[in-house]
Amino acid sequence: MLAMDYRGPRRVRAAQKPMPEIKHPQDAIVRVTRACICGSDLHLYNGNVPDTRVGTTFGHEFTGIVEEVGPDVTKVKVGDHVLVPFNVACGECHFCKQGMFGNCHESNTQASAVGGIFGYSHTAGGYNGGQAEYARVPYANVGPTVIPAGMDPDDAVLLTDVVPTGYQAAEMAGIQPGDTVVVFGAGPIGIMAARCAWLFGAGRVIVIDQVDYRLEFARNYAKCEAYNFNEMADPVVFIKKTTDFMGADVCIDAVGAEASGNAMQTITGRKLLLQAGSATAIHWAVNSVKKGGVVSIVGVYGPTDNLVPIGNVLNKGLTIRANQTSVKRLLPRLIEHVQNGIINPKALITHRIPLEEVADGYRLFSDKLDNCIKTVLISPSAKI
Ligand SMILES: NC(=O)c1ccc[n+]([C@@H]2O[C@H](COP(=O)([O-])OP(=O)(O)OC[C@H]3O[C@@H](n4cnc5c(N)ncnc54)[C@H](O)[C@@H]3O)[C@@H](O)[C@H]2O)c1
Ligand SMILES: [Zn+2]
Ligand SMILES: [Zn+2]
Repeated sequence: MLAMDYRGPRRVRAAQKPMPEIKHPQDAIVRVTRACICGSDLHLYNGNVPDTRVGTTFGHEFTGIVEEVGPDVTKVKVGDHVLVPFNVACGECHFCKQGMFGNCHESNTQASAVGGIFGYSHTAGGYNGGQAEYARVPYANVGPTVIPAGMDPDDAVLLTDVVPTGYQAAEMAGIQPGDTVVVFGAGPIGIMAARCAWLFGAGRVIVIDQVDYRLEFARNYAKCEAYNFNEMADPVVFIKKTTDFMGADVCIDAVGAEASGNAMQTITGRKLLLQAGSATAIHWAVNSVKKGGVVSIVGVYGPTDNLVPIGNVLNKGLTIRANQTSVKRLLPRLIEHVQNGIINPKALITHRIPLEEVADGYRLFSDKLDNCIKTVLISPSAKI
């Protein structure tokens, strides 16, 4: 089958690989119909995630038709069109039972922090992902969810990560009615977080990025204010000034390890890899939120140390909340929101790229070319 193949930092290609096989009675094999490229894939693509092995296939946002199931699979059957949450989760451990599917204790034997994630290096379990014609889906009674009749597969594929992550970013922020919410990052996740902030009762939503077409997209899609940090002397001062010098009620980091905007953080975090990514967005969030405020972090960082202003966190009495999203926990509510037209995920999809051209897809998304917001890869076997 054809699959995306990682060859080293900023080198990916489409290659022929063996078909995945059922390895466990609870496995399913799906024929992939849609697979997105995510900002999280860029951390792998840029070589910033430990133990990203040459030869692996990325892709944690995918939908597909069930082609084969193991003998213990009862919740999905051959022929079902399913959306597959990005978390690989057992459904039965201490953490899954609390709805913390992103922190499953069973699905990732390599680490005790993060659970398994499809196509996300051996640090996240070593599972091949869905940027391929076929994928193996473990714990098939837990994750894969039948796409409701009538739902557009383009909407469904964004329910595997983008919509739940934007929503969880706003949820973790504990937004109170009337709050001023600042979202750092106008990628798909930041845009969705801004949209969802209104659902929690925000009174004002501000998005910060440096890419003008993305800021414009955020303004239109999320009906929010959006500003370019390169046009400000200091984003923290800008936010303080625009909030009567109180600071924002909550700040959301939807940027993560590849943050720009601070030379020292960029050199130590992105070039020399002396810390687990550039902590620029965390700095801005901590320093521009009000005393007693909440910083919600969904931007992804590596497992080791970061230069984070923890003294300011302490002295301002902040609450920091952060996690990988627990997609399955949020799906029932978010499927309803999509069906009722409250969230329109597919509007984020700007590019559809044949899987054969996966290298172009990564470059386009990574370098923010051609007004790209979100890229979907379509495999030759998609047929839908
Ligand atoms: N927690 C989770 O479960 C989860 C799930 C999905 C994605 N993520 C993470 O969310 C983050 C965003 O994902 P995405 O798909 O939107 O990625 P993306 O790369 O498309 O978007 C990131 C945006 O941040 C902007 N940016 C860079 N430096 C900035 C700064 N200092 N301040 C403000 N904006 C800045 C970039 O210009 C870009 O538009 C990534 O770190 C990704 O790994 C987390
Ligand atoms: Zn993702
Ligand atoms: Zn579990």
